[in-house]
Amino acid sequence: MKIVVIGGTGLIGTKLVSKLRALNYDHEVVSASPSSGVNTITGEGLTKALTNAQIVVDVSNSPYFDDQAALNFFEASGHNIFKAEKVAGIQHHIALSVVGTNRLQKSGYFQAKQTQEDLVKTSGIPYTILRSTQFFEFAGAIARSAVTTGNEVHIPPAGIQPIAAAEVVEALTDIILGAPLNNTVEVAGPVAMPMDEWIRYYLNITEDYHQLVTDAHGRYFGVELQEETLLPGEYARLGKLTYENWSHTYYSKLTSDSIRG
Ligand SMILES: NC(=O)c1ccc[n+]([C@@H]2O[C@H](COP(=O)([O-])OP(=O)(O)OC[C@H]3O[C@@H](n4cnc5c(N)ncnc54)[C@H](OP(=O)(O)O)[C@@H]3O)[C@@H](O)[C@H]2O)c1
Repeated sequence: MKIVVIGGTGLIGTKLVSKLRALNYDHEVVSASPSSGVNTITGEGLTKALTNAQIVVDVSNSPYFDDQAALNFFEASGHNIFKAEKVAGIQHHIALSVVGTNRLQKSGYFQAKQTQEDLVKTSGIPYTILRSTQFFEFAGAIARSAVTTGNEVHIPPAGIQPIAAAEVVEALTDIILGAPLNNTVEVAGPVAMPMDEWIRYYLNITEDYHQLVTDAHGRYFGVELQEETLLPGEYARLGKLTYENWSHTYYSKLTSDSIRG
């Protein structure tokens, strides 16, 4: 079996390619991204990468997060990927999206993710969409995006249930080894918490000097959140690793006087 991981050099992609290659299965795993000569926007290298493949996993991301750029990325990418998948006869397309995408439609980035999901569902290729909550590794990006004036970081107390990227990879691996669900499933971390508590913990453990201000109107990438906007549904698969345990290992060597991811 040949599995193509689009975005195989990213945070999730790197871990997924390593995990799949380490499994004792008789399959070939191809990491496909611009740095390995495969570009889903221009189409470069796509047909060749998909030749004789059965499974495509899309864990790519737009290099630009402004509204129009993200939309252009997921639209063009989706069209080119599915055109190539039809020629190759792909039997299962797996896409990684975000829990609550449908509730975050005031954000251009999440409109783009919704477009990506819609293209998957209407492609005619058997599919599974995995929606994940925010990765533990993403705490720094959330903090950076919420810096307002001076040293203040304004974060809302809305619920969030973050997860280690490695546990998202475990969920993706199980999906890859199973049959297409032609449906959307969710994965989340083990513990729900208020977002301001999570980011405060992150700032403390990274010894960051920014001051966290709990702000009910603080925005998440431009969107005001309700308590449940980012929380998974009752049937979500849950990881086991808590942020506390994960972060002690991940950040143990870091000392910082500025926000970092
Ligand atoms: N961050 C979160 O908390 C979170 C939560 C849920 C879901 N997600 C979703 O998870 C997915 C993966 O996120 P990530 O953080 O692992 O992404 P990432 O680290 O930013 O990696 C992005 C990948 O996309 C590739 N890429 C960029 N432009 C491309 C193109 N034109 N053609 C093919 N590949 C291209 C990059 O390749 P190069 O290295 O060659 O540039 C890289 O491998 C995203 O779709 C995101 O929406 C994220």
